[in-house]
Amino acid sequence: MAQNQIPSILILCLAASISMTLLLSVEAKKTKFTLYFQDYAFGPNTTFFPIAGLPGSKLNYTDFGTFFVTDDNITAIPNEGAPVIGRAQGIYVVTDKGGKNLLVLLSLVFTSGTYNGSSIEIQGTSRQFDLNRELPVVAGTGKFRLTRGYINTDNFFYDQERGYSVIQVNVTLV
Ligand SMILES: *[C@@H]1O[C@H](CO)[C@@H](O)[C@H](O)[C@H]1NC(C)=O
Ligand SMILES: *[C@@H]1O[C@H](CO)[C@@H](O)[C@H](O)[C@H]1NC(C)=O
Ligand SMILES: *[C@@H]1O[C@H](CO)[C@@H](O)[C@H](O)[C@H]1NC(C)=O
Ligand SMILES: *[C@@H]1O[C@H](CO)[C@@H](O)[C@H](O)[C@H]1NC(C)=O
Ligand SMILES: *[C@@H]1O[C@H](CO)[C@@H](O)[C@H](O)[C@H]1NC(C)=O
Repeated sequence: MAQNQIPSILILCLAASISMTLLLSVEAKKTKFTLYFQDYAFGPNTTFFPIAGLPGSKLNYTDFGTFFVTDDNITAIPNEGAPVIGRAQGIYVVTDKGGKNLLVLLSLVFTSGTYNGSSIEIQGTSRQFDLNRELPVVAGTGKFRLTRGYINTDNFFYDQERGYSVIQVNVTLV
């Protein structure tokens, strides 16, 4: 009995230390940075367009089945007209009959700076009326090859008159 117990305790300790090491190395590899999407809902700069919807739909962002395509400039600081480091290109579909949730398929395509040539893929549901929305990062290319993680996003600034929003996006990758 006693002979059997010693090895199993050793194995437990070993397993615990291995999982602790894995946890620490995952923690150490975490990458975090903040981006801003420059979004215009209407006007000469429009970056967010309704494309199609169910018959009779007004193509509102709360109408089930409405399909949008977007191409927002990405900046490292929130200011309008700041240097552009990439584009947030993708589609949004209202996939909730109640109009609250959107399916988001978005590529962050970097065109200058540290991540020039690389991209990040976002895929998941956006609870669009929540103040802070979390979406999964499922993949990437270049410096982000095989990445995973999540983004937290929030409206940082909104000018209703111009339909202009600055969306803050905190990216966390493991
Ligand atoms: C978006 O960025 C491009 C350069 O990549 C620039 O020509 C264009 O004016 C920017 N759009 C807005 C609305 O700032
Ligand atoms: C879109 O839906 C929202 C929320 O239901 C509503 O407040 C707004 O007036 C609608 N816009 C249009 C153009 O119908
Ligand atoms: C369009 O974008 C430019 C450059 O970012 C900005 O200066 C201008 O005020 C914007 N126009 C409108 C109507 O929002
Ligand atoms: C970004 O990378 C491309 C090649 O992939 C290069 O042509 C371009 O000059 C780079 N842009 C900046 C601003 O570094
Ligand atoms: C992004 O991170 C900053 C700094 O930690 C924080 O103040 C901000 O609230 C975060 N924004 C979002 C949308 O989570």
